Amino acid sequence: MPFNTRITKLFGIQHPIVQGGMMWVGRAELVAAISNAGGLGILTALTQPSPDDLRREIERCRTMTDKPFGVNITILPSVNPPPYAEYRKAIIDSGVTIVETAGHRPEEHVDEFKSHGVTVLHKCTSVRHAQSAEKMGVDAISIDGFECAGHPGEDDVPGLVLIPAAADKIKIPMIASGGIGDARGLVAALALGADGINMGTRFCATQEAPIHSKIKQFIVDNDERDTNLIFRGFKNTGRVARNKVSQEVLNISQRPDALFEDIRPLVSGARGRAALESGDIDAGLVWAGQIQGLIHDIPTCKKLIERIITNAETIIEERLSSFLKPPNAS
Ligand SMILES: Cc1cc2nc3c(=O)[nH]c(=O)nc-3n(C[C@H](O)[C@H](O)[C@H](O)COP(=O)(O)O)c2cc1C
Repeated sequence: MPFNTRITKLFGIQHPIVQGGMMWVGRAELVAAISNAGGLGILTALTQPSPDDLRREIERCRTMTDKPFGVNITILPSVNPPPYAEYRKAIIDSGVTIVETAGHRPEEHVDEFKSHGVTVLHKCTSVRHAQSAEKMGVDAISIDGFECAGHPGEDDVPGLVLIPAAADKIKIPMIASGGIGDARGLVAALALGADGINMGTRFCATQEAPIHSKIKQFIVDNDERDTNLIFRGFKNTGRVARNKVSQEVLNISQRPDALFEDIRPLVSGARGRAALESGDIDAGLVWAGQIQGLIHDIPTCKKLIERIITNAETIIEERLSSFLKPPNAS
């Protein structure tokens, strides 16, 4: 039996399961596999070297699925920002109908997407940012708890508090993100007031994720303690897998006079990409969250999504409903 929520309705998908944008990972192979399995796959715009490459990637994805998929655009502080307006135009011109925005000051992008009829899912890490995105006119919120891979913000509020706190304030549909990887996470998210889930790290350890099998195995071998929080002193916290590079970044950052310049060579996107593609786990930063502790296999996206849905039904129908039976009832 499918889960019908405001999110399945909004995006026209079968299951309330979304894959968040992931630099170097959110390519057509993974996105199409997730959408074909009934979830919502999301391409990562900035993984493509130019807006024209993004147009081609969107077309490539369309040859692999006829189901809905989206595109993520992440706005991070940068000395040399990418040509955001041109990426945005490529998304709109390509007829993409769902966009995930993330990062700083999304107003300009949200206004432009909305004026072209695009459904906007905004990912953020605090209730106040979710409220301002709702006021801005986005269609749905993805609320990302402290457990998450990527940028959890600076408030350090985990999902168990953040999701219901956001649900109390947000009226539009909302998905829970961060630290979710199985049926228990889905059921918990729904119980906490979300309409569905967003997963990142879990989708990296799937057959279709376009990264080296040694990185997938690294995620499987890691446990919930195997992350580092980097860039804390620069107020741009990032949660990554613990490896030699993230340890070195922490060591350098602990120096009282540490500057971003001191760690810049270690944290470059090119090095992170090299790690994902070569399988050398110490070649660069590998972005992954605490959910690594609950990832034990490398299934296809279809198998993963089917398993989450089937097990979630069982949890609700058997485990949870058993608590409502009177004592000694069979
Ligand atoms: C390898 C990787 C790369 C990511 N890159 C981005 C990104 O470019 N933009 C973004 O908004 N989020 C990015 N994220 C965060 C995910 O979209 C998602 O919010 C997060 O992974 C959820 O937490 P989880 O990993 O515990 O599921 C990335 C996550 C991973 C694992």
